[in-house]
Amino acid sequence: MNPIYPHPIRGPNPFKLGVFALNADGGLTLTRVPERWPALWSEIVEVARIADAAGLEFILPIARWKGFGGEMNSREWSFETFTFAAALAGVTQRIGLFATVHVPMVHPVFAAKALATVDHASNGRAGLNIVCGWNPEEFGMFGLDMIEDRYGQGLEWFEIVTRIFTSREPFDHDGRYYKLRAVSGKPAPLQKPRPVTLNAGFSPPGRDFAAKAADFLFTTFNAIERGREHIADMSRRADARGRAVGVFTTCHVVCRPGQSEAEAYYERYAVAMADNAGLDHYMGQKQKFSGSHEADDYRLHRKRFAGGAGTYPLVGTPEHIVGEMEKMHAAGFAGTTLSFVNFKDELPYFLEKVLPLMREARLRIR
Ligand SMILES: Cc1cc2nc3c(=O)[nH]c(=O)nc-3n(C[C@H](O)[C@H](O)[C@H](O)COP(=O)(O)O)c2cc1C
Repeated sequence: MNPIYPHPIRGPNPFKLGVFALNADGGLTLTRVPERWPALWSEIVEVARIADAAGLEFILPIARWKGFGGEMNSREWSFETFTFAAALAGVTQRIGLFATVHVPMVHPVFAAKALATVDHASNGRAGLNIVCGWNPEEFGMFGLDMIEDRYGQGLEWFEIVTRIFTSREPFDHDGRYYKLRAVSGKPAPLQKPRPVTLNAGFSPPGRDFAAKAADFLFTTFNAIERGREHIADMSRRADARGRAVGVFTTCHVVCRPGQSEAEAYYERYAVAMADNAGLDHYMGQKQKFSGSHEADDYRLHRKRFAGGAGTYPLVGTPEHIVGEMEKMHAAGFAGTTLSFVNFKDELPYFLEKVLPLMREARLRIR
């Protein structure tokens, strides 16, 4: 069978869509509502098949090793992302399947082999989302300290992974973070020279890393005009290296027939029923260690952190949501990921109502 080409994330739709954090309980939320996403395997498979049949471009898991405490300990239950992608390869046909990989926790020799495995199992649909990591509680589980120069390690890691894919001979690597002897590995992935690569980050060093190593930056924004500035900054950094790097972002979604109905539900799950103890812990740790958001976001947008880990809210009618996506597309975003309180209950309505309007707006051609 010929590999899927090009990778779905490089397909023809002007504004691409992925599903994010399907592999973790609560998805991106920190809420106590009983319908919150349980991340049961059978339901993950159902949602993956629905997204695949609808022609969405990719499924992107979140990389988590520990929950955020509070009443629900959200995201403590999460599936490992290489094995998640490989398993979904067997039950889907066309959709791109990313693994989200923590550089410090996953050795590059292992990562190269796991990624090649997903690429073969999925017939060329694998993707790599590199996260350099921020959460000291997770690092502690691996006996690791946080390092200042996380992107320095990331670059070395990425160089080793790609060299395994392209080198004809075993090679030694003598770097600051890795000293490796006679490294080799087969098979190479089907995608050449390597599977499509995202970097999840926000800070200037994160963007510089993406400029050197990634095909796309995966990033947050708090207002569409700020997003436009982030994209211009990313382009400058990529241009300086003679590369092109697209920008994907991430949104949490409440899509309902009426605007006030959507807003009322958002208020219910992200304010009235927020898991406040978990939220305080999450926001405190993230503010201290991550740099994934603008400094003001923690003060201004508590609801967004409960609603979707500080991502941008798409809350309202299908028409409202498509209007927001048109602005995001005009600002230069290549697409967005979507997360829901309950993917299985809510994704079908989104697909039924929003995709046709996106086609009318020429955000999608299929
Ligand atoms: C959109 C987005 C998604 C991310 N996803 C994850 C994730 O799944 N797991 C994780 O540990 N960190 C995740 N991160 C955090 C990054 O890996 C990174 O550690 C953090 O953003 C700090 O780097 P920065 O200062 O360059 O933003 C994400 C960050 C962004 C912006």
